[in-house]
Amino acid sequence: MTRVAVIGAGYVGLTTSAYLAHLGHDVVCADVVPERIDALNQGRIPIFEVGLEEMVRQGIDGQRLSFVLGAETAVDDAEFAFLCVPTPQAADGSAEMGFIEDAARQIGPRLRSEAIVVNKSTVPVGSTRAVEQALGREDVFVVSNPEFLREGSAVHDCLHPDRIVIGSDDQAAAIRLAALFEGIQATVVVTDPATAETIKYASNAFLATKVSFVNALANLCEAVGADVRDVVFGMGYDPRIGFEFLKPGPGWGGSCFPKDTRALLHIADEAGYDFSLLRGVIAVNDEQHERVVAKVVAAAGGSVEGRTIAAWGLAFKARTDDTRDSPAIEVVRRLQERGARVRAYDPQARGGLEGVQRCSDPYAPCEGAAVLVVLTEWDEFRWLDLDKVRALMAVPSIVDARNLLDPAAARRKGFVYEGIGRP
Ligand code: NAD
Ligand code: UGA
Repeated sequence: MTRVAVIGAGYVGLTTSAYLAHLGHDVVCADVVPERIDALNQGRIPIFEVGLEEMVRQGIDGQRLSFVLGAETAVDDAEFAFLCVPTPQAADGSAEMGFIEDAARQIGPRLRSEAIVVNKSTVPVGSTRAVEQALGREDVFVVSNPEFLREGSAVHDCLHPDRIVIGSDDQAAAIRLAALFEGIQATVVVTDPATAETIKYASNAFLATKVSFVNALANLCEAVGADVRDVVFGMGYDPRIGFEFLKPGPGWGGSCFPKDTRALLHIADEAGYDFSLLRGVIAVNDEQHERVVAKVVAAAGGSVEGRTIAAWGLAFKARTDDTRDSPAIEVVRRLQERGARVRAYDPQARGGLEGVQRCSDPYAPCEGAAVLVVLTEWDEFRWLDLDKVRALMAVPSIVDARNLLDPAAARRKGFVYEGIGRP
């Protein structure tokens, strides 16, 4: 049983802690928020993530997982210390290193000799060196091990990763870290730290590029009268293209794509390379939020001033409670700016939104609404009673920004239906 410390009990840190305990390691996870630690020690998790609560409870019950306040208290005797703290976007678009450096400074003096500090946070190229400096130790190793989990399937993704990337200048440290993941079936890519850090940004930027591509394609389909869903269907059978990340929507969002694409752009700028392709990917995404807003305004007859708009969905995608940089919220904000009264329902989204009335069921926001806009692709929205929705609305009009509903069925029920990139 290997002693592991995990610093940060958010989406990445908590999932990492739970699955490393599941693999049989002895894990101590630290955070700086006392209520978070108290709740976790009682087996209650502060986020919505399928399967995570059970795995945390199993870890606690098996005495392989515990939670402590403060990074410095977690690392005593630990052979590995995983850094899973935030790297938010700074004003200039770069990734902020403050949380990482603070955490490194806190654990540095307490680490045992030969310990391996594993950087799981998404950090700029060269950060391994910055962590080494903040630790202030010559006798420990710093290894990059970027995380590729998706919110909503974090537990599954950790147990069945497509690959494990390890960036280290020290071969022996890389081998020791790879051994920690024994029991996980995955290709291990061992490389240098700068390359590992670049792999992480490149992966997110490429996925964002696919989504922006399909959103741009959807706009073209609207202009030429084609159906983007069939276009993707026809393209996707080519295995070089595939079907993944080609669903049009209100633009990509979440806690990572927006900040990571901008951070990569910043890295490129600093390095003297004009990454104009990525700039275009971000611009298409910003325009996409506005296109959805324009559809709602058009559906409301040209103005949303003083009108009630019903929103289904606030989370940045389905199966998560996370609303960080959510396109749904961006669309809602822009509608509010144009004078709309927005009422919203989301089964899990965390936090209130100023000026938005949150409803506890999906029908309530529809009462008296001029337009219903579908912003998050929660499965439950597919199966709702459209007759009931129509009876509640002032005008039966749907803007389906996720292409979730069946247009023919909605139109049969008397709705004016507008999707994304399809007739
Ligand atoms: P999060 O905000 O959910 O969690 C971070 C946690 O770290 C918070 O609970 C915070 O209180 C804690 N923390 C901050 N400073 C600390 C300190 N000094 N000691 C102990 N705890 C501290 O963040 P997250 O979504 O888990 O993301 C963490 C990192 O992983 C980011 O760099 C992110 O880009 C990257 N990442 C996130 C995801 C994802 O899906 N969320 C996936 C892959 C990579
Ligand atoms: C993403 C990556 O998929 C993970 O591999 C990565 O680890 C993570 O970022 C990270 O670095 O934090 P996540 O943010 O959970 O994961 O969400 P995704 O499922 O990638 O979706 C991102 C955004 O793209 C969402 O707003 C989603 O609605 C949108 N999207 C995705 C589409 O609009 N269409 C698609 O076909 C796919």
